[in-house]
Amino acid sequence: MPGSGGRATAGPQGPRELHDSDFVVVANRLPTDIEVLPDGTTAYKRSPGGLVTALEPLLRKRRGAWVGWPGSPDGPAEPIDIEDLRLHPVALSATDIADYYEGFSNATLWPLYHDVIVKPIYHRQWWERYVDVNRRFAEATSEAAGPGATVWVQDYQLQLVPKMLRSLRPDLTIGFFLHIPFPPVELFMQLPWRREIVDGLLGADLVGFHLPGGAQNFLFLSRNLTGAATSRGAVGVRGRFGEVSLADRTVRVGAFPISIDSGDLDHKARERGIRRRAKEIRAELGHPRKILLGVDRLDYTKGIDVRLKAFNELLAEGRAKRDDTVLVQLATPSRERVESYQILREDIERQVGHINGEYSEVGHPVVHYLHRPVPRDELIAFFAASDVMLVTPLRDGMNLVAKEYVACRSDLGGALVLSEFTGAAAELKQAYLVNPHDLEGVKDAIEAAINQTSEEGRRRMRALRRQVLTHDVDRWARSFLDSLAETAE
Ligand code: ADP
Ligand code: F6P
Repeated sequence: MPGSGGRATAGPQGPRELHDSDFVVVANRLPTDIEVLPDGTTAYKRSPGGLVTALEPLLRKRRGAWVGWPGSPDGPAEPIDIEDLRLHPVALSATDIADYYEGFSNATLWPLYHDVIVKPIYHRQWWERYVDVNRRFAEATSEAAGPGATVWVQDYQLQLVPKMLRSLRPDLTIGFFLHIPFPPVELFMQLPWRREIVDGLLGADLVGFHLPGGAQNFLFLSRNLTGAATSRGAVGVRGRFGEVSLADRTVRVGAFPISIDSGDLDHKARERGIRRRAKEIRAELGHPRKILLGVDRLDYTKGIDVRLKAFNELLAEGRAKRDDTVLVQLATPSRERVESYQILREDIERQVGHINGEYSEVGHPVVHYLHRPVPRDELIAFFAASDVMLVTPLRDGMNLVAKEYVACRSDLGGALVLSEFTGAAAELKQAYLVNPHDLEGVKDAIEAAINQTSEEGRRRMRALRRQVLTHDVDRWARSFLDSLAETAE
């Protein structure tokens, strides 16, 4: 893929027919944002978020096709081959973006599935557009997939696609994976279109969640909303699955915690250039004794405000030293036209300004805040340079940043402060686990991480790395796709 912010010309890759893909990923976004510029050239930029981080390397290896939105209203409409990937753009109009993406996906489903941290908004007009756009994704996928192909539908924006696609193409094997938490039953029941969403998902042969709790919630809802018989615990070759028995077929339901390309990150973080850059970063920050780091999309689920509040109080109480501790917060802009995101941004920037006003010296801010994505190598250097990684979401399906940090610490340095309310916490038990609602607990954990002995840090990091390096994204994908293939058999 062309690098972040780079430009490239898409070239034809070889004699592939339009309908010949036997493995197709369908996601709201293509892995690359593609914009046709006024001068007719095309600009490419890596898409934000964990879904792309996880799936892009994998699909490239399989030479598959990816159906998705190019990320702007004026993207291309024709299939494009980039390196080993065939991209099938689904064009969205400004109204589609407002109602399907910003509206139903990110102001209804996103807050509902994240424990209603902000209040979900239910608009019939948004729902109608969600149905319409899901139908167009299903049609585009039906065109891209070869006979008997395997199609893997991703995430909450496309929950109706499995059923729609099955009715268009009964020959396909269809998997669905949800990248965000599946909510508790009581919350899901708020949704006026709850039955339609469950029916949509049941169009798949296999429905996957990060955690067993999500799978269990879904099984319960399937039974209660559709009257289907469900069982918990059919034992497949690859573990324990639930099943939903429909009139003509059985849907498998399971937990598949996603991961990262940990080997690749481990390798990159050892490169001399990255290590040099990590040293430069420490120097540019004024050689502080401790660097605290946050890396997130600017999203209210991520608890950026929690860590800023905790840091502010630690400075006020003298438990963190203003002259030798800095916090770097890298925040990728996200969903900037959605009101709750605008409010969040104002709040975060006010907090950063307040802390710097109270504790900084001229030329030496205590909080360094960048509101932009940073290039991948630069991010790896930040991971390698920092002493304490702060991952404090109020709710997160997995959180790949936590795993990325661990993968980059072959030196066994650093410490991870991790919210219990992330999927990652189920695997990364040797992190400093915190309840983000308990501010005193967060402060204690950050203080402990800042002051840990190097033996303690090495012991924790060694155990964390064992988990992350052995449970990588290939293993995740293999486990999902092998289970999906079993259902087809
Ligand atoms: P989400 O999918 O909700 O955004 P994840 O933590 O699972 O959260 O994945 C985020 C991905 O985006 C990670 O691969 C992370 O490295 C990347 N990322 C997050 N913030 C930045 C940033 N400021 N600059 C560059 N990459 C970022
Ligand atoms: O994993 C959650 C997710 O919403 C992905 O579906 C998405 O690609 C990523 O976060 C970034 O969000 P957005 O596509 O809305 O910028």
